[in-house]
Amino acid sequence: MKVQTILVHIAVLCFLLCLSVDRVSGQEKKLVCYFPNWTQYRPAPGTFKVKDIDPFLCTHLVFAFSKVVNNFLRGYEYNDDTSWRQFNALKNSNPQLKTLLGVGGYSHGAAPFTAMVATAGNRKTFIDSTIQLLRTRGFDGLDFDWEYPGDSVASDKQNFAILLREFRTAVQEEASRTGRPPLLLAAAVAAGITRAEKAYDVPALNQYLDFVSIMTYDYHGTWEKVTGLASPLAAPAGDDLNVESTVQWYMGQGLTPQKLVMGLPAFGRSWTLASVSDTSVGAPAPTPGTKGRFTGEPGMLSYYEICEYLYRGMTQTLQLDPLGQVAYGNLGNQWVTFENISTLNTKLDYILNNNFAGAMIWSLDHDDFTGAFCAQGRNPLFSAVSSRIKNAGTGSFTTPIVTSAPITAAPTTAAPTTRVPTTPPPTTPPPPPPTTTRRTTRRTTAAPTTVRTPATSPGRAGSPDAPFECPDDKGGYGYYPHPTKCNIYFTCYAFLPIEVSCPFDWNFNPRAQHCEKDYSCGA
Ligand SMILES: *[C@@H]1O[C@H](CO)[C@@H](O)[C@H](O)[C@H]1NC(C)=O
Ligand SMILES: *[C@@H]1O[C@H](CO)[C@@H](O)[C@H](O)[C@H]1NC(C)=O
Repeated sequence: MKVQTILVHIAVLCFLLCLSVDRVSGQEKKLVCYFPNWTQYRPAPGTFKVKDIDPFLCTHLVFAFSKVVNNFLRGYEYNDDTSWRQFNALKNSNPQLKTLLGVGGYSHGAAPFTAMVATAGNRKTFIDSTIQLLRTRGFDGLDFDWEYPGDSVASDKQNFAILLREFRTAVQEEASRTGRPPLLLAAAVAAGITRAEKAYDVPALNQYLDFVSIMTYDYHGTWEKVTGLASPLAAPAGDDLNVESTVQWYMGQGLTPQKLVMGLPAFGRSWTLASVSDTSVGAPAPTPGTKGRFTGEPGMLSYYEICEYLYRGMTQTLQLDPLGQVAYGNLGNQWVTFENISTLNTKLDYILNNNFAGAMIWSLDHDDFTGAFCAQGRNPLFSAVSSRIKNAGTGSFTTPIVTSAPITAAPTTAAPTTRVPTTPPPTTPPPPPPTTTRRTTRRTTAAPTTVRTPATSPGRAGSPDAPFECPDDKGGYGYYPHPTKCNIYFTCYAFLPIEVSCPFDWNFNPRAQHCEKDYSCGA
């Protein structure tokens, strides 16, 4: 009788264990995406607002950022309340979506965090008021973006761990009191091992957080005077500035794959080379790259700004670092390291083969969200990652590397008609025709050869001084020649024309849809 009872217990225990193991390995993968508050101030068409977010691309959206002021969570912007409401209203379109409020960020500074975590009273003020704020504004959780605990005060590490423990307890109490699903707790953590050692009690992160996003990018940047890869997957022995080393360190410290979300950049880093005769990784590059036309920050470019570089000739210099699996190239003396769909796919292989919880991407505004720059449809990078993450749920880890660009991610959780209408009106570019070179596949969204006929050409094309008007034959999108200058073309985004010059002495060929050496507009 006793033996039988024990056997039954063992059977039940095994059943539960097996169930939970199954649940863990079959858990839905996450795609955690950041929305920065300041991209609303970029010049069009780089302006990125909440309405530009596709609610079906990511599983988790993080609003970046809010701040800590006297132990309370506060917004940054005069319009944060409105932005938060719009942000959380994305869940009306996609009820599966989870939203988190990020607190901290690069420019926040550590002092308000240090003071908040330092005493039990301050922590309680923060925890209680934050739970209330998240609930009243409709967020599903909080994302800690403290850069970085332990940078100047050693006790941060322990106090941050205590905060997380107390926050977890409070979140569970609130959930059982209200009967609502518990708020999510997450953090974005440093990639540098030296910094992470001082900052994090990793077992505490693993125990109290729902997931931990490692910012596995910015290993190299223009704080160094030589070119380097921003997010190398691996590096030669002895160089631990790479994704694999970071991930292995965190796992060695006790971060489990089920909590590990690996960071991916949708932006590139750029340098101005000392000389165009040395364009290798590690080449002398004393100054940051020229600032992007829309992002406006020296040494950094959005993917869509990089597409302009590619289009203007950088494709001819494009290289793949074999160990790092990062793309790099140069346009004249501008040297750029970045991720494209292929390199992201390689990183996704790594994430899925290791059965990590998913991927994080910084940030939504850096992708070609308009589809006007890369000729790969809207959100080409996020769509590529998103489809891998969604397919991973079905257990297929052998998805081949995607070499051609998906046009848009198919919404899997709702009918297309329930999508939030994003402005401007959705126009999916036609699928690229088969072409022999990548240069031409990059430019496929515009009208073919009829752009200069009276019916579709801009109304004022005849008068050289009038502003260019985007024709509506493609719904206000596409590439069009300048009415009089052969070396200039226009990228149209929602009827907004952006004037672009061809590189060198090349000219825009409207039929081929790109700039060409020796092309002449005559006749
Ligand atoms: C957005 O958040 C950052 C902190 O991450 C803050 O410094 C900034 O003032 C906020 N607003 C803008 C327009 O950048
Ligand atoms: C990504 O860049 C590499 C070179 O670094 C290139 O071989 C590959 O074709 C590119 N992939 C796409 C989809 O553009």
